[in-house]
Amino acid sequence: MSNFWLDLPNPFFVLAPMEAVTDVVFRHVVAQAGRPDVYFTEFTNATGWFRAGNKAIGGRLVKTDDESLIVAQLWGSDPEAMAALSQHCAELGYDGIDINMGCPDQSAIKGGGGADMIRNPDRAAAIIAAAKTSGLPVSVKTRLGYTYVHEWREWLTFLLRQDIAALTIHLRTKKEMSKVPAHFELIDDIKALRDEISPGTPLIVNGDIVDRAHGEDLAAQHGIDGVMIGRGVFANPFCFTQNAKREMQHATKEKTQRHPFIQSKPRPVAHSIEASAQTREMSEAFSLRSEYRLSGASHATPNESDKQDSRHTESTEKDVSDSAESVSHKRQLIDLLHFHLDQFDYYQPQMGRPFETLKRFFKIYIRDFDGASDLRDQLMHCTSTNEVRRILSNHR
Ligand SMILES: Cc1cc2nc3c(=O)[nH]c(=O)nc-3n(C[C@H](O)[C@H](O)[C@H](O)COP(=O)(O)O)c2cc1C
Repeated sequence: MSNFWLDLPNPFFVLAPMEAVTDVVFRHVVAQAGRPDVYFTEFTNATGWFRAGNKAIGGRLVKTDDESLIVAQLWGSDPEAMAALSQHCAELGYDGIDINMGCPDQSAIKGGGGADMIRNPDRAAAIIAAAKTSGLPVSVKTRLGYTYVHEWREWLTFLLRQDIAALTIHLRTKKEMSKVPAHFELIDDIKALRDEISPGTPLIVNGDIVDRAHGEDLAAQHGIDGVMIGRGVFANPFCFTQNAKREMQHATKEKTQRHPFIQSKPRPVAHSIEASAQTREMSEAFSLRSEYRLSGASHATPNESDKQDSRHTESTEKDVSDSAESVSHKRQLIDLLHFHLDQFDYYQPQMGRPFETLKRFFKIYIRDFDGASDLRDQLMHCTSTNEVRRILSNHR
């Protein structure tokens, strides 16, 4: 079995799996803005696919050959289904399989998958073994525990004994959802455990990491192997690039003007201040105020929170200066939105996702400049990518 996890730079960067976000279209957008070393797909349910085939998974496993290295994230509690889907992923050309053992959604928990694995280690072991029949390296992404933070030691000890190819730890419990800051204070202890039990297993940390510079700081401080970024791409789609910090600082300056509480609540790692405010805002734009959802999310329409947010930003966006830097930042983001529209159209025959699903992404690109809120409002009323392009042509 070839294990690409062992041939990556140190530290390496991973795009987090995000339901209704990290499909083939958005992964190409991220690649265009600044490539991570490894991409994760949104997660796919093994049982659904096993019973009903590709129509049950709606384009989730569509990928292109240039998307290397790419890991299919799967979830489910039936070993037979997991073995079959993992083998199918090997045939599709995936570089690895990741098992989701952290999803807090009730549908996943009731089905015995996601974070429910934390309470059922024997089932987790059976699922890992089933995925390994694919011949691909099998990694696990999980949380610190189900209810209590202190569960991490026993749970991660168990996982590290399963001969997995990599371990991603989202530094929160299932119960904490995303409502508390990630427990960066545990990284050293988790790494010490990894060193003791399975020193060859790459350790990836996840939660509230905003960009490459932030990840590099954490890696330098704690000696972790990899850094996974999820919502950081909403706040800054260029977050994987070397100069992401500069991009971020630009956006952050404006954000801190908007959110006075950010300045009054500093946290130990400087970058995380921006992360919590900006990523919260973007998650809300995805109708995911508390946590990601299994279904329905991909067909959500703009919701009330988005409308409220747009009212909120309207008054503050007037304050943003029209400096040369902000003009170029605006142009970069609008160019990236054009790219996103093109990718959406290109993959539409395979993906079949309604145009409405595209609207939740507009906030990534249309913000932080005079008139952003009005422009976003216009785009939200569009019914096709061409209509979006037509409106954008007035904003070059
Ligand atoms: C919109 C959205 C969808 C998500 N979908 C998944 C998923 O399919 N699989 C998974 O393991 N985690 C999923 N997550 C959790 C993220 O992968 C990540 O663990 C979490 O957002 C914390 O990292 P961050 O602060 O870098 O975003 C999702 C998160 C968001 C915001």
